Amino acid sequence: MKNATEILNWYKLAGIDTITADEPYNALQQDTHSETTNKVTDATALRPATTLLAQENATACINAKEECAKASTLSELKNILDRFEGCSLKFSANSTVFGDGNPNAQVMLIGEAPGADEDRMGKPFVGRSGQLLEKMLASVGLNRKDCYISNILPWRPPGNRTPTDGEIAVCLPFLLRQIELIEPKIIFLLGASAANAVLNNNASISSMRGKLLELQLENGKKINALASFHPAYLLRSSAQKAKSWSDLLRLKRYLQEE
Ligand code: URA
Repeated sequence: MKNATEILNWYKLAGIDTITADEPYNALQQDTHSETTNKVTDATALRPATTLLAQENATACINAKEECAKASTLSELKNILDRFEGCSLKFSANSTVFGDGNPNAQVMLIGEAPGADEDRMGKPFVGRSGQLLEKMLASVGLNRKDCYISNILPWRPPGNRTPTDGEIAVCLPFLLRQIELIEPKIIFLLGASAANAVLNNNASISSMRGKLLELQLENGKKINALASFHPAYLLRSSAQKAKSWSDLLRLKRYLQEE
């Protein structure tokens, strides 16, 4: 049901608020309908719009994966992303925000999506969340320049709305290929959205943080991961900062010892 609401909201955002057809059509009785309406010959015309949208998204996902596999360097991947048009978020965003930082980093930090500042400047985590992130890193002796920072989505969703599952699925191959190319020692996932997308689960951030997690990449490699609160959440809920501090200490310990 959530998906149906999201799709309708997506239509609304795109300016589509009226459904028209020559005659009423019960999408739940597709077979009956096709028997009685011989006038309709185009197979796609019989499918509900939501199915078509899901199919378009599935095609875009396959295309994204195939394109990403062609990149053997980060700059090739960035060029592919610059040409990619399979996600409508690209057309409402000002910038494509690709990952940034040290390509030989031991730590890769992953957030959800660019915000307004990132969209304006074309770089991840440069706004208020980014400033807090830099302070958090500094508190355990890490520097932004030593890390590689990226997001699940390279484009800002309009009005900072929550990205849909479809948008995440289309953009994810670009992030996973960045992980494969960088091969960090560990990934630090910022917030449930990033952790759920990368680890392909629905777990809460509270249940994931504090544990050493693992990401299995398509190239067969395994990469350890830690999940913690998103800096934007910490800006609103400073009571959680103590837990976040302990997650950062765990990260530091992992880098030094494991
Ligand atoms: N929040 C994110 O998740 N990513 C950014 O780049 C900025 C804010």
